[in-house]
Amino acid sequence: MAKVLLALLALAICHSSFYGVAHLVDSRAPAVLPNDAKEYLKAHNQARAKVGVDPLKWSYSLANGASWLVRRQRNLNVCNFANITVTKYGVNQLLAGDRSMAPSNVVDAWVDEKKYYNPFYGVAHRVDYRAPAVLPNDAQEYLKAHNQARAKVGVSPLKWSYSLAKGASWLVRPQRNLNVCKFANITGTEYNIYGTNQSLAGDSTMALSDIMDAWVDEKKYYNYTRNSCTPNHKCGVYKQVVWRKSLELGCAQATCSGDGGRLTISLYNPGGNYKGQWPY
Ligand SMILES: *[C@@H]1O[C@H](CO)[C@@H](O)[C@H](O)[C@H]1NC(C)=O
Ligand SMILES: *[C@@H]1O[C@H](CO)[C@@H](O)[C@H](O)[C@H]1NC(C)=O
Ligand SMILES: *[C@@H]1O[C@H](CO)[C@@H](O)[C@H](O)[C@H]1NC(C)=O
Ligand SMILES: *[C@@H]1O[C@H](CO)[C@@H](O)[C@H](O)[C@H]1NC(C)=O
Repeated sequence: MAKVLLALLALAICHSSFYGVAHLVDSRAPAVLPNDAKEYLKAHNQARAKVGVDPLKWSYSLANGASWLVRRQRNLNVCNFANITVTKYGVNQLLAGDRSMAPSNVVDAWVDEKKYYNPFYGVAHRVDYRAPAVLPNDAQEYLKAHNQARAKVGVSPLKWSYSLAKGASWLVRPQRNLNVCKFANITGTEYNIYGTNQSLAGDSTMALSDIMDAWVDEKKYYNYTRNSCTPNHKCGVYKQVVWRKSLELGCAQATCSGDGGRLTISLYNPGGNYKGQWPY
């Protein structure tokens, strides 16, 4: 069965400051875009316009890269996705069973995923219209501990997110019915796209500030030069606390009915503590 693989490197130029490649100029670019390029662009930019996002520009360098990545398919009996393990670009791929599928149909299928996207979760910088003017005390306490630790290493403060706090609250809630408190299982929930710090306190009277102090205290086990934790110690909580690319924070606590332990969960958007990256 003839199958065609179409791959498109999501055009990263508009966000190039993130990767430090400002306004790539491609001197070999022909004056008029080829038809397929126009078709890919049109479908992307129509979808973007619908949500008020600036259009992408075509990049001949990215198209060259995509072309190199799909070429290998020609010698395969059974088409499969290109194996792209390390890339600084965004990558979308699609396997069409039918060779006659036009670029616009392929992008239509991508755009169609819109119906499965819940904008309530997963968007950095979202505005929460229901946010009260004054933050609740516990929110202020979570924020203060995080932002003091961030300020000490020159990282900008997090903002409180009511959506993330709601998510954290949903995640801790099952503790109320547990005899023995345990960490929430984030896998398979819609919250696994965020950074998640959890801690269990044996004593439900432990002050929030003490719990936050314990989180920040992991700093002593973090060696910035090696970007690693002291052997036999953990420092992932601290690294997430000071992760520069994280912008928003939302947290919640619940106490187990059985052993009286207390679970604290903080969600971070975007998440951090990625292997091989320095937090700041
Ligand atoms: C993709 O490539 C990486 C690095 O070469 C390799 O470790 C991995 O097993 C490959 N994955 C697949 C699905 O072939
Ligand atoms: C967490 O949830 C996932 C998905 O439901 C499940 O596969 C996994 O076994 C669970 N892990 C634990 C430790 O319960
Ligand atoms: C803290 O958050 C980071 C990022 O999500 C994660 O890698 C780390 O495992 C978390 N630590 C705990 C104890 O939850
Ligand atoms: C951190 O790691 C570096 C490089 O291995 C080492 O020279 C330094 O002593 C370590 N710092 C601490 C506080 O352990």
